[in-house]
Amino acid sequence: MAAAGSAVGLGNIWKFPYEVGQNGGAAFLLIYILCVVLLGMPVMLSEFLIGRRARANVAGAFRKLSGGNRWVLMGLLGVVCAFFILSFYFVVAGWGIEYIYQAACNNFAGKTTDGLARFFADFSSSSFRPLLWDVVFILLTLYVVVAGVEKGIERYSKILMPFLLLILILLCVRSVTMDNASAGLAFLFKPDFSKITPTVILSALGQAFFSLSLGLGCMITYGSYIRSDNNLMRTVAQVSVLDTIVAVLSGVAIFPAVFALGIDPAQGPQLVFVTLPSVFTQMPGGYIFAILFFVLLSIAALTSTISILEIMVAFVSEEFHCSRKNAAIVTSLVIVISSALCSLSLGADTRLTLFGRTLFDWCDFLVSKILMPVGGFFIAIFVGWFCSKKDVRDELSHGAVVSEWFVNAFLFLMRFVVPIAILLIFLNELGVFDLLS
Ligand code: TRP
Repeated sequence: MAAAGSAVGLGNIWKFPYEVGQNGGAAFLLIYILCVVLLGMPVMLSEFLIGRRARANVAGAFRKLSGGNRWVLMGLLGVVCAFFILSFYFVVAGWGIEYIYQAACNNFAGKTTDGLARFFADFSSSSFRPLLWDVVFILLTLYVVVAGVEKGIERYSKILMPFLLLILILLCVRSVTMDNASAGLAFLFKPDFSKITPTVILSALGQAFFSLSLGLGCMITYGSYIRSDNNLMRTVAQVSVLDTIVAVLSGVAIFPAVFALGIDPAQGPQLVFVTLPSVFTQMPGGYIFAILFFVLLSIAALTSTISILEIMVAFVSEEFHCSRKNAAIVTSLVIVISSALCSLSLGADTRLTLFGRTLFDWCDFLVSKILMPVGGFFIAIFVGWFCSKKDVRDELSHGAVVSEWFVNAFLFLMRFVVPIAILLIFLNELGVFDLLS
């Protein structure tokens, strides 16, 4: 449940739809699903396996299983990556809180789609309010991590997440019954293969890893807490399927409405924040559903932010021998600064732009397009080439009957298929193949 809570978050409901919109619709979805099944699920299995075998945090796990210090760098990569993710993730989580407030004041009612778009543009490019909510969300996460109430949050989210799913389904129904909804469904489900470019493939890979919380050791940490009789393959399947269902549902809730309302699907991060409020104004009980939706979205975001902050806190407190509390406060302070800069880069301060990309975009870009795929690459290499086969076989066969054939197939995947696929996707994006041909 905790792993599912980490996986399901803004990545599914906010990031996935806008990535689909920017990368050509159904063709992206198809490649995304291929990436989840062929690369994401094996890497998640590897992370669980490493964590449970070593029963230690990221750095400790690599140290223990490889018997040396070289792989500890992976822990560092995870921490750096966690820092970049939180820098923009908290900004978006903060937007969610603003939208709870707006929904509660019934401020969506009577606004046209253009009005809602203008509202979002004004709000996100202003300086004070986004920063306020950004800090509020960081404090909330800090509180949960320091007070150690994750257990409580997880219990709540177990009860609350089905409601988020329910509201998403209601939104899907409303969206699909709008005029011209079929254009949106075609956009999402009818692939136009000419849309597939190297960039689309790399985006799909990055999005798959982001959504499944892979590549920076988050699932290694969670794996270290998994009971030894748990069937890892089943857990991987459950988390991945649930995560993908939530992503596809939010696509179905958004795209028919996007086309019905004449919104540009490729407009980027604001897509969800403009489209969904429009849908709420057009459905019965929209006032209540809007509030509930943004509350639940914030809780889904919270179960993700605690899992990411935890990576940094565990590392700082163990490597610098300080208390968890101090580690949490110091890392949060640093992130307050970096995420404030990300937020300001969206409009309030134009100096925070580099090569035409805002600081906010840079963090997102570094994480999804570079650091997470690189992390996944090395995790595959580690399990394929540096773990003993006995460790792998033992872990896979706890609570499951696993034939030698399956172990060999899995190792083959991790030794060759996953690393080579990630490498090819990178080279392809860099244009190496174009040069060759
Ligand atoms: N998967 C989460 C989402 O979709 C984000 C997330 C949580 C994450 N923990 C992570 C991403 C660890 C990478 C690594 O919103």
